Amino acid sequence: MKLPAALPTLLALAATVDRALAFAPTATTTNMHHRRRRPPSSSSSSSMMPPTPSSSSSTTTTTTALTAVTRKDSYSITLLPGDGIGPEIMSATVGVLSALTSRCGFELEFAEALIGGAAIDAVGDPFPDASLERCLSSDSVLLSCIGGYKWDSNPRELRPESGLLKMRKSMGLFANLRPAKVLDQLVDASTLRREVVEGVDVMVVRELTGDVYFGTPKGIDVVDGELWSSFLAFGRDDGVGGGSGVGIFVFGSQSYSSSGRKRVGYNNMIYREDEIERIARVAGDVASKRSGRLCSVDKANVLDVSQLWRDVVTEVISSEFADVELSHMYVDNAAMQLIRYPKQFDTIVTGNIFGDILSDEASMLVGSLGMLPSASIGDGIGPGVFEPCHGSAPDIAGTDKANPLALILSAAMMLRYDLDRDEEATILERSVEAVLDMKLRTADIKQEGDGCKLVGCIEMGKAVAEVVSTINSIVEV
Ligand code: IPM
Ligand code: MG
Repeated sequence: MKLPAALPTLLALAATVDRALAFAPTATTTNMHHRRRRPPSSSSSSSMMPPTPSSSSSTTTTTTALTAVTRKDSYSITLLPGDGIGPEIMSATVGVLSALTSRCGFELEFAEALIGGAAIDAVGDPFPDASLERCLSSDSVLLSCIGGYKWDSNPRELRPESGLLKMRKSMGLFANLRPAKVLDQLVDASTLRREVVEGVDVMVVRELTGDVYFGTPKGIDVVDGELWSSFLAFGRDDGVGGGSGVGIFVFGSQSYSSSGRKRVGYNNMIYREDEIERIARVAGDVASKRSGRLCSVDKANVLDVSQLWRDVVTEVISSEFADVELSHMYVDNAAMQLIRYPKQFDTIVTGNIFGDILSDEASMLVGSLGMLPSASIGDGIGPGVFEPCHGSAPDIAGTDKANPLALILSAAMMLRYDLDRDEEATILERSVEAVLDMKLRTADIKQEGDGCKLVGCIEMGKAVAEVVSTINSIVEV
């Protein structure tokens, strides 16, 4: 395919591709003084997190993102309450953490910062520099959720989601760990049959700072006349050969006349080799601490970017993780298999967009998005961000109906991954299970006729805090 002679838009776009390729991975350098690399925790016996294998035959010496600050007596934590139900679940979680610190004899110093719609309303920026600075200078970050109808029609840079993406990119949070473990107490909360979901324990390792989310060129352009037909010729690979090399864009198959103005929307699904390598290492590390089974999900039968993904993941795992058994699956099949027979999966590693979709799907195995925590981590130099997988549920905001458990469980992941406080993390996780054993349920996990008591966010938070203060020393590490 011939490159169109004079095509300013395309040249500008091509230049952006070069810039994108030349872009070095973000690495935060603040906080170095009080953070250190440590090997991933080897003492977790939590039911929420991967068990530690009794023996490890791993040959890897690779560095990983599973790191934490040096264990200490007092940590600074940035709280990002965000939008919708965010402030409610944050206050329930802070109550629980206060109970934990009084019981365990260490301190968490909290400071709030703005993100999302709240930040747009206050300062006209969904993730202002002041918030970034505060996050970077703290030991860890706890985030509720962002978004709401109110900001949905704003220009993209003034939408809450842009703040979240900016935070992830600027803090270098390239690895997102989303565990989906079906708790015995909630087996019947899933829409799937008991025998399908019972015992499911999946960890989705999602790449978080690359892919079509951040790839350039991107945009919606208006192109007309001659320019349009050239644009199409450049941008479309009809699959009949000749398109490779310049087939940067893949547009629909509709044919247009060469006159009149047309709009074209496009994003670039792009991964650099080093971006794939580092997420493969995190996934290999996570998998080796679980059952050792790792399934990499891609769309290599169609997408070049996925072929590179598959090749690089294979190289990294085979050369660095002798104890990890790697398999590959196309994303459409993975979406189907997750529902058909989810127990076949242990650790899944995948790119940003596939991980976004599959982790929401995995949450439904558990019964409610309201139960799913997540950890976003980077190179271990800067702090991680710990947040529930769920959104801001603006429809129930302010009604005390929200489920705070996903944020409480995210705080547990923060203690484990960022603060070197494994035992305390386990106390939180066991306490959550204990309140479920006490048959307390928020609306999202309440089943008709389950004999459980319907409680609001405040009562659920108080119940967990009470259990945290009184639960026996249950931690066998
Ligand atoms: C998530 C969310 C975000 C994403 C949105 C809110 C930008 O869906 O964390 O999964 O797409 O990553
Ligand atoms: Mg999502």
